[in-house]
Amino acid sequence: MQAHKHFLSLADLTPAELSKLLDLAVELKREWKAGGNAPVLKNKTLAMVFTKPSLRTRVSFEMAMRHLGGHALYIAPDEIQLGKRESVPDVARVLSRYVDGIMARVFAHADVVALAQYARVPVINGLSDYTHPCQGLADLLTILEYKGAIKGLTIAYVGDANNVANSLVFGATLLGAHVRVGAPDGYQLRHDVAARAATFAQAGGGSLTQMTDPQEAVRGADAIYTDVWTSMGQEAEAARRAQVFPPYQVNQALVALARKDAIVLHCLPAHRGQEITDEVADGPQSALWDQAENRMHAQKAVLATLMG
Ligand code: CP
Ligand code: NVA
Repeated sequence: MQAHKHFLSLADLTPAELSKLLDLAVELKREWKAGGNAPVLKNKTLAMVFTKPSLRTRVSFEMAMRHLGGHALYIAPDEIQLGKRESVPDVARVLSRYVDGIMARVFAHADVVALAQYARVPVINGLSDYTHPCQGLADLLTILEYKGAIKGLTIAYVGDANNVANSLVFGATLLGAHVRVGAPDGYQLRHDVAARAATFAQAGGGSLTQMTDPQEAVRGADAIYTDVWTSMGQEAEAARRAQVFPPYQVNQALVALARKDAIVLHCLPAHRGQEITDEVADGPQSALWDQAENRMHAQKAVLATLMG
């Protein structure tokens, strides 16, 4: 991580850098639970640029900055109008004169790349159409807490192989997990993502397997992950996707095929009754709320590393 000024994709990290971030997240969470974090970002400000809605990313980053003694500025989609009212490079240049770091949630991944290219301060990807690395880090932290290690686990992702799947797949293969993606034809991992993750798996002793059968994906798994069938920006495809994805619903019958102690993960927001049932989301194997909390701790590790 030291080698990188920005946090745009987990695929940019070495396994050692990723493990170090996770170790720091564990430590910062422990410290916070024990009474509070040291103010390592005193007087530092993070600009949070949103082009899409958010609950977790907005609030967890704001609280993460507060826990570390700094501040966060929320900039709503209508204000900057990234790339419309003003070019992305100009936004990066100007924000760099005011703040110590930029977190951005964008549509095109190229926008967060351009922000990083033109900013003089660290840029953090708060979700793009390509990947959601802060989510991926929180996902790994949650799995680590429940299972004690990532290496050797079987992690099944079921549904649309989207931005959230990409970060999970990168992170889990970097750390040596066996990753199975159960997704319909046409909604599997992008070829470049699958190829990259396969090289991570080969180096780390894990594996990446894609299949169309959700039952095959979850059989004997240690963790089952799902996300919405239609991501932000894909609303025009919602009706078509609603026809394709019902067999990929994470319900009790599907969960029953995994290990008895398997955990269920979802980045949230959930469309209950679609990709996940109430019974599973609220059931004994659900790790959803710890996972949501872990966004805050995982991001503190990123902020302290980049801005401290
Ligand atoms: N998981 C996640 O990023 O949630 P928000 O869209 O609410 O930030
Ligand atoms: N895949 C979803 C994740 C939301 C946090 C989306 O991009 O809308």
